[in-house]
Amino acid sequence: MSANGAATTTIYLDHGATSWPKPPGVAEAMTRAVTELGGNPGRGAYRMAVDTSRAIHRARTDVAAFLGVPDARDLTFQPGCTQAMNLVLRGLMRPGDRVVACSMEHNAVARPLNALAAAGVEVVVVEADEAGVIDVDAVEDAMRSQTTKAVVCQHAGNVTGAIQPVADLADVAHAHGALALVDGAQAGGHLPVDIKTLGVDAWACSGHKGLLGPQGIGLLYLSPACQPDELVTGGSGSGASEEPLQPAVRPDRYEAGTPNTPGILGLHAAVTWLRDNGEALRAHEAALVRRFHEGVLSLPGFRVLGPDLGVPRVPIIALTHERVATDRLAFALDRRYGIATRAGLHCAPWAHRTLGTLQTGALRFGLGYGNTEADVDAALEALAELGEELA
Ligand code: ALA
Repeated sequence: MSANGAATTTIYLDHGATSWPKPPGVAEAMTRAVTELGGNPGRGAYRMAVDTSRAIHRARTDVAAFLGVPDARDLTFQPGCTQAMNLVLRGLMRPGDRVVACSMEHNAVARPLNALAAAGVEVVVVEADEAGVIDVDAVEDAMRSQTTKAVVCQHAGNVTGAIQPVADLADVAHAHGALALVDGAQAGGHLPVDIKTLGVDAWACSGHKGLLGPQGIGLLYLSPACQPDELVTGGSGSGASEEPLQPAVRPDRYEAGTPNTPGILGLHAAVTWLRDNGEALRAHEAALVRRFHEGVLSLPGFRVLGPDLGVPRVPIIALTHERVATDRLAFALDRRYGIATRAGLHCAPWAHRTLGTLQTGALRFGLGYGNTEADVDAALEALAELGEELA
């Protein structure tokens, strides 16, 4: 209990927003970045700067291998998934171009698309079904009649946990001469990702969610065919400072300015942990989310959004209650039980509109690293009590 009598957070169920705690090695790698590797990578020939460059190179190579990226130079570190999706969308789309999107997109995609629409880009939004899954045939229908530059879709839903058929969407996009762009924020770490198999042209991810790294770092894969303009220009450290424009070589083109070395090294440590433990963690997450889903279905008054029980999903369960506002539930869960969740629209108004929850929002539980069956059972017990008491 804290001094004011409220429960302190003892059960963290907001992994959809950011993962916590982090696996062993992450904090240590970040500390090393500021205590030992303090040189500016690529901006000096002295040993510490060279060592920092090497550490970043190793991080890029290992993260690329983890994600099945064929050429590590096509993987750039970005401040986050939002920045990465802005880079791709704003860097590619020009007035008069056409882009097909899914109705479940997070604001990291929806807001750039809204801005592009205002600037003369045609944005076609294909409605997902009631579980929040996009239909590949509907996307193909939307592309049949007109030239489309890109298809953009989330890999997994931040409200529903639904897994989208991104490899099939990439095939459809390519069959129509379009690029396939994917927001992987909720997929990285929670799903096995192999970029070669997915065949996508852009895949962006946060470092701090399922990839278990720190906040403030993300990544972006771009296929050789996908050449957005850079969003930011500046120092590249690649030795051609006299050039007036950003060098075209990757990764420098998309990484202007001094990088977030502590973030990159923290993410590297997290991905190294996931490489060795990710499969077991994913199995554990699948078992927990199933247990939680089953448990909620037995509670009166609650409705679970997204795919039916038994359909694979990333470890997210969002729910509504027929009489109790979800923000009241989230508040009581925190204050009375020390359970951290996220209520509201989850920065995803398009998704909530699709699900019919734009007015009410939903209460989201994001499971992940560090969670146990006891956490799930405690959350179910708390929901049962609150559902009865607050209704
Ligand atoms: N995008 C994050 C979420 O879904 C912050 O909560």
